[in-house]
Amino acid sequence: MSPFKTQHSAKLEQLKHGTEKIAMLTCYDATFAKLSERAGVDVLLVGDSLGMVLHGSENTLNVLMTDMIYHTRSVAAGAPNTYIIADMPYSSYESGAEIAHENAQMLLDAGAHMVKLEGGGNMVNIVRHLVEKGIPVCAHLGFTPQSIQKLGGYRIQGKTEESAKSIMQDALSMSEVGVSFILLEMVPASLARNITESIDTPTIGIGAGVDCSGQVLVLQDLLGIYTGQAHKHPNEFKSPRFVRNFLKDSGSIQAAVEAYVKAVKNKSFPTAEHSY
Ligand code: KIV
Repeated sequence: MSPFKTQHSAKLEQLKHGTEKIAMLTCYDATFAKLSERAGVDVLLVGDSLGMVLHGSENTLNVLMTDMIYHTRSVAAGAPNTYIIADMPYSSYESGAEIAHENAQMLLDAGAHMVKLEGGGNMVNIVRHLVEKGIPVCAHLGFTPQSIQKLGGYRIQGKTEESAKSIMQDALSMSEVGVSFILLEMVPASLARNITESIDTPTIGIGAGVDCSGQVLVLQDLLGIYTGQAHKHPNEFKSPRFVRNFLKDSGSIQAAVEAYVKAVKNKSFPTAEHSY
């Protein structure tokens, strides 16, 4: 194993078994990657949210593997010492385990150390295959943006007893097949707490209350500079409840990212006001 691979495997073990909250942040380019590494961010997520944030698309469905490879390379160049997760874009994994493996490997070759994919029970066989091939996987549950059309928009998931049970079951299944992290987006805080207490796999929350093992935010949300879909007027945009603008009270972007890391670690972010 290369020294870099060993270093990042050790970092993952430390994050998984440590007592500190994990501070994760999205990142799409080398300059912000370098700044985030200096600020002490534990994990950089090359999220397919770049479809909206960088490309101005309405959702994440148009993001391609070539986009993810390009941005993963850029982030890896800027933050060589930080653990990097890359999103598997829509249509790059759902159709079968072999294609998922090929595409996941391309993201690792571009500099990622783990891939993230969306979905629960229906993805278990694909995830098992990736894990068996030695590819670390983060499962994204709750609100899954690649299913926005099926979910009927940005809606909190797991509000009914039945849907909460189904997300819990997905988390148990994903944990059982050996994912390294479970990301929970826009679910009730009580459900995220139950999941976190029921599995050994660390949970990363975004709009998932205060009890997850770690937190993630979109960098442009943290800086208060994302004002919605490119074609819409900024006045039409209301920041989601789980977002906090860290730049407002900081003197610089560097200080804002440092404040985010500190707030996650000392548990002053998120609070109940950022939760559902
Ligand atoms: O793509 C992304 O940025 C994400 C975060 C919202 C968690 O998946």
